[in-house]
Amino acid sequence: MRIIVHNAKCQGHARCWSQAPHVFKLDEHGYILPGDIEVAERDELLASRGARSCPDHALEIDRL
Ligand code: F3S
Repeated sequence: MRIIVHNAKCQGHARCWSQAPHVFKLDEHGYILPGDIEVAERDELLASRGARSCPDHALEIDRL
C-alpha cells in the first residue's frame, strides 16, 4: 500500500502521526514531510487509520 501525500493541503494537525508515528514523519512545525509513503503490510491498518484521520484530506490511500 502507498500513501500519496498532498503537502499543500496539510495544516499540521498531526492526527496521522498520533495514529502511526513510525509511518507519518512530520517536520519541526508538525507538517507532514513531502514524498509518497510506501507502507509495509504490517503497518497497513494503522497507516490507513492515520490517513483517514486527516481533516484536510492531505493523505490519499493508494492500494497498489
Ligand atoms: Fe497534516 Fe493531516 Fe497529518 S493536516 S500533519 S497530514 S493529520
